[in-house]
Amino acid sequence: MGYQSEYNESVNDRDAFWGRQADAIAWYKKPTQILTEADYGSHRWFADGELNTCYLALDVHVAEGRGEQVALYYDSPGTQTKRAITYNQLLAEVKRFAGALKARGIEKGDRVVIYMPMVPEAAVAMLACARLGAIHSVVFGGFAPNELAIRIDDAEPKMVITSSCGIEFDRVIEYKPLVDQAFELSAHKPEHCVVLQRPMVEAPMTPGRDLDWQAFQEGVADADCVPVESTHPLYILYTSGTTGKPKGIVRDHGSHAVALLYALRNIYGMNAGDVWWGASDIGWVVGHSFIVYGPLMGGCSAIFYEGKPIRSPDAGAFWRVIEEYKVNSMFAAPTAFRAIRKEDPEGELSKAYDLSSLRWLFVAGEKLDSSTYSWLDGVLGVPVIDHWWQTETGWPMTAPLMGVEPVPTRLGSTCVPVPGYDIQVVDQEGNELGPDEHGNIVARLPMPPGVAQTIWQNPQRFQESYLTAFPGYYHTGDGGFKDQDGYVYITGRTDDVINVSGHRLSTGEMEEVIAKNSAVAECAVIAVADAMKGHVPVGLVVLKQGVETADAEIEQQLVAMIRAEVGPLACFRKAIVVQRLPKTRSGKILRAILRKIADAEEFAQPSTIDDETILPEITETMTGAGLGRS
Ligand code: COA
Ligand code: AMP
Repeated sequence: MGYQSEYNESVNDRDAFWGRQADAIAWYKKPTQILTEADYGSHRWFADGELNTCYLALDVHVAEGRGEQVALYYDSPGTQTKRAITYNQLLAEVKRFAGALKARGIEKGDRVVIYMPMVPEAAVAMLACARLGAIHSVVFGGFAPNELAIRIDDAEPKMVITSSCGIEFDRVIEYKPLVDQAFELSAHKPEHCVVLQRPMVEAPMTPGRDLDWQAFQEGVADADCVPVESTHPLYILYTSGTTGKPKGIVRDHGSHAVALLYALRNIYGMNAGDVWWGASDIGWVVGHSFIVYGPLMGGCSAIFYEGKPIRSPDAGAFWRVIEEYKVNSMFAAPTAFRAIRKEDPEGELSKAYDLSSLRWLFVAGEKLDSSTYSWLDGVLGVPVIDHWWQTETGWPMTAPLMGVEPVPTRLGSTCVPVPGYDIQVVDQEGNELGPDEHGNIVARLPMPPGVAQTIWQNPQRFQESYLTAFPGYYHTGDGGFKDQDGYVYITGRTDDVINVSGHRLSTGEMEEVIAKNSAVAECAVIAVADAMKGHVPVGLVVLKQGVETADAEIEQQLVAMIRAEVGPLACFRKAIVVQRLPKTRSGKILRAILRKIADAEEFAQPSTIDDETILPEITETMTGAGLGRS
């Protein structure tokens, strides 16, 4: 079957196509229902099926004789640690850890928050939750305690699992004090906190509440897989929306398993026994789908890398990993390669390594600029494939099918729609647009298996966020166009979401933090192009009448506030005091114009602006502060 026939069947005869894909996984109870409608405009896949994701990721491979194959290669250049963990070993660790969770009362449906660095114990914790039917929510380590507390209050976990520290280049970041602060800030108080003590730092423990990772597993009985309904939540993953409250994206067991296995084999072209590397972090959707669950369900050996692309110890780190583990295919964000190129512009370091195992490289998470593409193409000499997806979908929406029939890629495009996704471009009124016409990128409903169908405890918000702007379509929040051959081009978000180093953040959320400063009358946070990180946020603030604090002092305060409340990952380092902000006559800040000024792009004076004199004035202030110089 070629791409086109595969695609056509996936959207025209969903029951046949996805029913066949479902046959590829081991169900306890095979589903008879394939696609059914649900409340709030959502859908369900395989609703009457029963399975367990941990069983599919581990037990099935051991049962089929793959137990001695490496499941995870842990590689941590900062701590100079390496471990090759077989499927047999990983299953034994997960069974035991799940037993310990069970002994502490964790049951099907209970939530467990995981705030850990890239250590294999994090995967053990995720899989152990899945084994019991408990719902994990992994929070990225770069988030501040306040963000962790917001997630604890929303997910209401019985337990938090953490580690004494993470490693950022050569710095040891103590995680446990951040968790302690989050416990203080949250209204919901989890019963226990399990702490993995790493050799670099010993975390202080709160007696009664805190449990040592090793000690709490002593003497417990192993736990078996708990069969769950296909629609039972496997995890909640919070992602930035346009407000200060992150959205708890819910992923189910059944449709997620079917979609990931399909994606791993058909998009990424990976087979059992292949070596796969998702160079991201378990705190992001990529980490869930293609560091842990996808490659394990597919019987691959997955790299679990606790390092950076550069200074680990040098910018040859990625090439070293590819050679050492004979990586067949990998995923990374363009930022990682921009960082490598900055340190090693000619790619000299790559020449010292044998990269011949690599068949192709996938990139996503942010725009792949043409110069990074050309550089990678020159260094690697294998296909460099841009593809597009988001936390909500959990797997790619546009990509070539490397395991079926790799259609040629096109520069600037994230390729063609993946089977299951009927991608369209619509105008503000929801009318479908033709080739090369720019608009909102949407997908005709229903969405394929694997895509989130709700927000944790808030199905209305899911409907409002994704299903109401353009009735009959899922609203991706991205803008762009399709060419005459159906290739999709993503030009950027149409909302207040920005991507910093491939990390998704909300400018609206940062504005809410800045507004708490008593000197600030109003503010706008905009994304400004950055040569390495893609974009970084910059604050434009209007001060209250009579404020006498120096602008530099205000900037320092705001930088500290964002760091403390959102986290260092926001990379918020610049706040510019301006006299006024440009607004429409109805009072909306013209953020798009501010972005254009910051990036030195041409713009037309909008007819809706309330005061025409403001644009030259603010351009001068922003240019004076170092923005807008092309
Ligand atoms: N735990 C704690 N702190 C973290 C963290 C984590 N997991 N991740 C990032 N941070 C902190 C960093 O230490 C840094 O803090 P600082 O301001 O005190 O220096 C801050 O957050 C910003 O980090 P980052 O954006 O990663 O910038 P950097 O300069 O430290 O590193 C790169 C630059 C390019 C090497 C790094 O951003 C990178 O590897 N990017 C690839 C991103 C990626 O894989 N994204 C995939 C998403 S799918
Ligand atoms: P996240 O949910 O964190 O994975 O971020 C998803 C968002 O990242 C998308 O909605 C896009 O805005 C952006 N994105 C992901 N992949 C790409 C890509 N290949 N090109 C451009 N933007 C992308």
